Amino acid sequence: MTTSEAAGTAPAHDPAVIDRLLDRAVARLKAVGALCSEEVERAVRTVPRHAFAPEFPLEEVYDPRMVLRTRYADDGTATSSVSAMWVHTLMLERAHLAPGMRVLEVGGGGYNAALVAELVGPGGSVTSIDIDPVVVERARTFLAGTGYGDRVEPVEGDAEHGHPPGAPFDRIIVTAAASDVPPAWTEQLVDGGRLVLPLEVRGYQRIYAFTKRGGDLLVGETGDHAGFVPMQGAGAPDSRRARVTGTVELVTDADPVPAPEALPDVFALPAHQERTGVRIGGMEPFSTLQMWMTGLSGFGLLTGTGEDFVHRPMASNTTPAVWDGATLAYLLLPRVPDDTETYEYVACGHGPQAKEAASALAEHVRAWNRDHRHGPGPRFLVHPGLPDADRVVRTRHTRLLALWDRAEPDHGLDWAADASG
Ligand SMILES: C[S@@+](CC[C@H](N)C(=O)[O-])C[C@H]1O[C@@H](n2cnc3c(N)ncnc32)[C@H](O)[C@@H]1O
Repeated sequence: MTTSEAAGTAPAHDPAVIDRLLDRAVARLKAVGALCSEEVERAVRTVPRHAFAPEFPLEEVYDPRMVLRTRYADDGTATSSVSAMWVHTLMLERAHLAPGMRVLEVGGGGYNAALVAELVGPGGSVTSIDIDPVVVERARTFLAGTGYGDRVEPVEGDAEHGHPPGAPFDRIIVTAAASDVPPAWTEQLVDGGRLVLPLEVRGYQRIYAFTKRGGDLLVGETGDHAGFVPMQGAGAPDSRRARVTGTVELVTDADPVPAPEALPDVFALPAHQERTGVRIGGMEPFSTLQMWMTGLSGFGLLTGTGEDFVHRPMASNTTPAVWDGATLAYLLLPRVPDDTETYEYVACGHGPQAKEAASALAEHVRAWNRDHRHGPGPRFLVHPGLPDADRVVRTRHTRLLALWDRAEPDHGLDWAADASG
């Protein structure tokens, strides 16, 4: 359906039905902590979400978990959507928007930009940049149709370069999955400005909220998983895959992966398993463990179907792993015998250093359990000048470091740690 067809066929809806659906959505968003402030609630109740997705039934439009996919690549993968309501409200809360602010939205469509326009008011400004001209046109049509035509400027372009004509911005809100922080985003933020984005680091996509603390330094935190469509253009993800055996591949987006021809069939090599003694309930969140694991050098995710693993993997399609030469170690999560609710992490190594690698991985999990499992999770520093050190993740443009403990050795980063807050 074209934009004009979608706009032209938009059915008239009963306002009472929309109010009922909105009440339900707002209650659910509050219950899961994705909506906290009166300001964001007012914006959600004011902007008619259905007018930005007229081809979808109302029940779907106002279901806070539903992603409304609007554009697809030739291979059938989605390239654009009206994102789920929970992710909009959560990111708006993290952005700390206020009247009068200048905001750049990366990834358009219109709905989120209209919410931002409500929050920054008539004294603020919203620029919404999208790489896809069809999405820009769609946004322009829907914004004009809902009265936001003068309050949001949709522009076409690759947001890798930000939007220099509108800079500097008080806030940059990214609504496509980034695998890096391009220099333009930091440069085009004011000091003290916030960058909120879904960032995929070593296979795990999360929403990060950073504050610019002078120069090129960003300081922030994360917590929430996300599943945005990937960035296109110059910032498209550059993950590398090396086949291990069968359908199993090692995927990494950061440090170099060994060339595929260097990968032996590790599952045919000697194996060693070490139980960690760390147990977890089926419903307990383990995202801080994922972040803790990504700080290991040689980290990657093993993907593939469970049958190809010698032992049952941690999850059906991604298993955290560490690769070093011809040795691979990964983490399993088998159920504890005679207990349907509890699982135990088991490190499994293959290759010449199987025992050492499995032991090191098991010890890493024990350290998480001891020191961080029930903590608030790390703060993050992003700066291109972070030194090569353990746990510093290198991307094309910058480096990212998780700081787990204020008292830990700082790798000469006192200047950065002092600036956090
Ligand atoms: C999930 S959609 C945006 C959702 C939207 N902001 C909303 O209101 O719900 C992601 C958008 O990012 C756009 N995009 C992807 N890569 C981009 C890039 N490099 N520069 C600008 N836009 C990009 C896609 O075309 C797509 O429309």
